[in-house]
Amino acid sequence: MGNVATTSGIESARELISTRKDHHLDLCLRADVGSRGPATGLGGWTLEYDALPEVDLEDVDLSVTLFGKKLRAPILVGAMTGGTDRAGLVNRRLARAAARCGLGMALGSQRAMIVRPELGATFDVRASAPELPLLIANVGAVQLNYGVGTSEIRSAIERVGADAIDVHLNALQEAIQPEGDTRFKGLIARLEGTLPELGVPAIAKEVGAGISERAARKIARLPFAGVEVAGTGGTSWARVESHRAPAASMQAEVGERLAGFGVSTAESVRICRRALGDARTVIASGGVRHGMDVAVAIALGADAAALAKPLLAAADESEDAVVRVLETLIFELKVIAFCCGARDVAELRAVRAIAPGAAMPGVVDAEARQ
Ligand SMILES: Cc1cc2nc3c(=O)[nH]c(=O)nc-3n(C[C@H](O)[C@H](O)[C@H](O)COP(=O)(O)O)c2cc1C
Repeated sequence: MGNVATTSGIESARELISTRKDHHLDLCLRADVGSRGPATGLGGWTLEYDALPEVDLEDVDLSVTLFGKKLRAPILVGAMTGGTDRAGLVNRRLARAAARCGLGMALGSQRAMIVRPELGATFDVRASAPELPLLIANVGAVQLNYGVGTSEIRSAIERVGADAIDVHLNALQEAIQPEGDTRFKGLIARLEGTLPELGVPAIAKEVGAGISERAARKIARLPFAGVEVAGTGGTSWARVESHRAPAASMQAEVGERLAGFGVSTAESVRICRRALGDARTVIASGGVRHGMDVAVAIALGADAAALAKPLLAAADESEDAVVRVLETLIFELKVIAFCCGARDVAELRAVRAIAPGAAMPGVVDAEARQ
């Protein structure tokens, strides 16, 4: 995320990326960076509860296969960081915790290590978590317009031993970021040429403003293996960048105002599932916080869900704190599946999702009775 090739003086650009990465960590830990206005859209939904589920809790199997890798549950550690010593520590804690829980993890943008290969160690989590079942690399799509090519991305993937790559789409963030990269023209053609050469499945990923129908249609025509929606309702990157912008600047003001701009996570999951069909993967993210969010997202069409900010707060504390958050999520999801009579994720996906304010199936509401 962020401009390098166009700034004068490579050294200052390199400094800038590292400073920005630590600044992002501080802001996400301490400032109010929540999306404004529309929430995730997951909150008001519930699933049809079944008091006679005909399944044993211990037999509920939440395992899923994503990008050819088997996970214990449909949960991922979302893309966050890398590029500084502190970010390296966060990455190692996240990776070890994900490995202990049998879950996958995405790295933050690897732009920093493309510019400064010696920073590769801060992304290299395989050494401390060799049993991590799924590792996802990360690069900003817009970097294809700023001198990053197939070979740099391939070596970033290979250097960390990733199984897939997030290609993040962050137009709103870049527009508010004081030093943002905003030349997005021509990216579709570049992605068309680059994605098949990467050697691993690529995932189109927003960072908190969601994938609309218009974007989903374009993504569907590209050789992406899936999407991570990162819809509104969670961390707002317009807001994070607004905090980083000089006080009283246009960026600061506009970033605050557009902190809820985009598509909610729930809407984006449904849109992407429709646009991408069943053969491609849809990951729900953006404000996913609890097991019920994951369960509802799955019932609305997601294959899995990812969380970022809550896991950063835990990783800032310890690896054990991350494990506790992840194990609690898995347990909650298991209890929900059990109480819906779902033995596995396929059955959970088929459970009836009840929209906010709608009556339970079979319940005739007062208006309908008249
Ligand atoms: C500290 C932090 C750094 C992030 N950096 C990246 C990044 O480098 N690349 C990326 O694709 N997404 C990045 N994200 C976005 C998240 O992956 C996610 O899409 C977004 O924060 C919404 O999820 P949340 O509400 O669970 O935080 C970052 C998120 C956080 C909290």
